[in-house]
Amino acid sequence: MIITVDGPAASGKGTLARRLARHYGLPHLDTGLLYRGVGYLLLERNRALDDATTAEAIAQSLDLTKLDADALRADRISEAASYVAAMPGVRAALLKMQQDFARQPGGAVLDGRDTGTVIAPEAEAKLFVTASPEERARRRHVELATRREPTEYCEVIADIRKRDERDSERSVAPLKPAPDAVLLDTTQLDIEAAFRAAIAIVEATRAGRARS
Ligand code: CDP
Repeated sequence: MIITVDGPAASGKGTLARRLARHYGLPHLDTGLLYRGVGYLLLERNRALDDATTAEAIAQSLDLTKLDADALRADRISEAASYVAAMPGVRAALLKMQQDFARQPGGAVLDGRDTGTVIAPEAEAKLFVTASPEERARRRHVELATRREPTEYCEVIADIRKRDERDSERSVAPLKPAPDAVLLDTTQLDIEAAFRAAIAIVEATRAGRARS
């Protein structure tokens, strides 16, 4: 079974995808880490964020096992990631590896922005996880404080709005729900409640497919 979990920044998609993967015994890919990896290496090489040629070359030879996931999740990498994610060459270079991951025997859980629309349109269960920008900023603000990256709330919400806009308006693989995705608004839900809702969606989708 392939399960895709897409949605905007700090909507809770990563946590839900990890928990779904554990629940169903499936491997999990956080596709955002790939774009973060390209952004990170671009900054490390002191290249401009709009240097598409270098970004594409980095994407073609990206090996996430050589990078530290915590360093990739740092706040300064988020913006770089959303810049390189708008480059068609970068997305094309990362496509096959994501599709191979999705199509491995037994299936997989993937989370990101386009996993249900571009990477695995054939997925059995697709979730599109949202929450209000204010709630997402509140969560990211708490997360950054826990990771000792203190930031002002007003900066966090401004960053979230900017990335939402860039991710939704780019011409390649924009952030949008697949037509057959089920929306899950987590604004009022804690992690446990959101997880229960996600399981209910996956089970209902499976049951629906079994009937048809
Ligand atoms: O958790 P958060 O949304 O902050 O970050 P992420 O999921 O790691 O994604 C970082 C950036 O990578 C996003 O802002 C997107 O621009 C980009 N991305 C994408 O374009 N497509 C994906 N499948 C995953 C991430």
